[in-house]
Amino acid sequence: MIKINDLHKNFDSQAVLNGLNLEIKKGETIVIIGRSGCGKSVLLKHMIGILEPDSGEVIVDGQRVADLKGKDLVQLRMKFGMLFQGAALFDSLDVYENVGFALIEHTKLPEAEIRKRVRRALESVDLVDIEHKKPAELSGGMKKRVGLARAICNTPQIVLYDEPTTGLDPIMADMINDLIIRLQSQLKITSIVVTHDMTSAYKVGTRIAMLYDGKIITQGSPNEIRNTQDPVVRQFINGAAKGPITDKRNNDFHF
Ligand SMILES: Nc1ncnc2c1ncn2[C@@H]1O[C@H](COP(=O)(O)OP(=O)(O)O)[C@@H](O)[C@H]1O
Ligand SMILES: [Mg+2]
Repeated sequence: MIKINDLHKNFDSQAVLNGLNLEIKKGETIVIIGRSGCGKSVLLKHMIGILEPDSGEVIVDGQRVADLKGKDLVQLRMKFGMLFQGAALFDSLDVYENVGFALIEHTKLPEAEIRKRVRRALESVDLVDIEHKKPAELSGGMKKRVGLARAICNTPQIVLYDEPTTGLDPIMADMINDLIIRLQSQLKITSIVVTHDMTSAYKVGTRIAMLYDGKIITQGSPNEIRNTQDPVVRQFINGAAKGPITDKRNNDFHF
């Protein structure tokens, strides 16, 4: 479904993605783990053509993303649903306009049909009759679920989740995990979840890949990752301050 070949991306002189290779199969839920700032969101943005590679390529459904422009790029993006980090709802729009955004902007569907689809998307995340509300009237967990409803409203083939559980309490986080699993099995979509929450990674992932130093350094089933002997992966999944992963920023300090 998605193939990433030797992807390189620098910002200023900093190499964020540095020869990243990854293949994502149809119908799987791949979880990409890695530290804050390691390039997880940057990677997702390459998949939908928000960022362009310095070199290398991202191929979605046989199409090279960087070659697509205008209408073709919109078509590509319609294959995706995306739950942005922090839900990123438009504050001035109500829930209906937020969830139906892509359908309102990019299709000629009649409003009644869009209303129906928005209602269905909201129902699948256990929300009813909140179409008229503004984001400011919603709790954090509700905002995430509205963001999730928006991600699935255009019946995408692939859903990208950028840190879906970050900032939520553990119970709300687990509800979101359950929703990801349920949407996956109901809609048979390909899911890509980016997170540093290992509880969520083990629960929702059919496969886990770790991004480190601009590359995918390990990938395997949740069990394989749990039992890995790789010292870098072990340090990350165990959340240990001591180990081969060093904080480059701290190397500048001398105590
Ligand atoms: N548009 C941009 N311009 C400059 N630097 C960026 C941009 N987007 C991301 N970066 C940098 O790239 C690195 C990776 O960012 P990001 O992918 O957001 O990390 P995360 O893994 O936490 O999602 C960070 O150091 C960030 O500052
Ligand atoms: Mg991010």
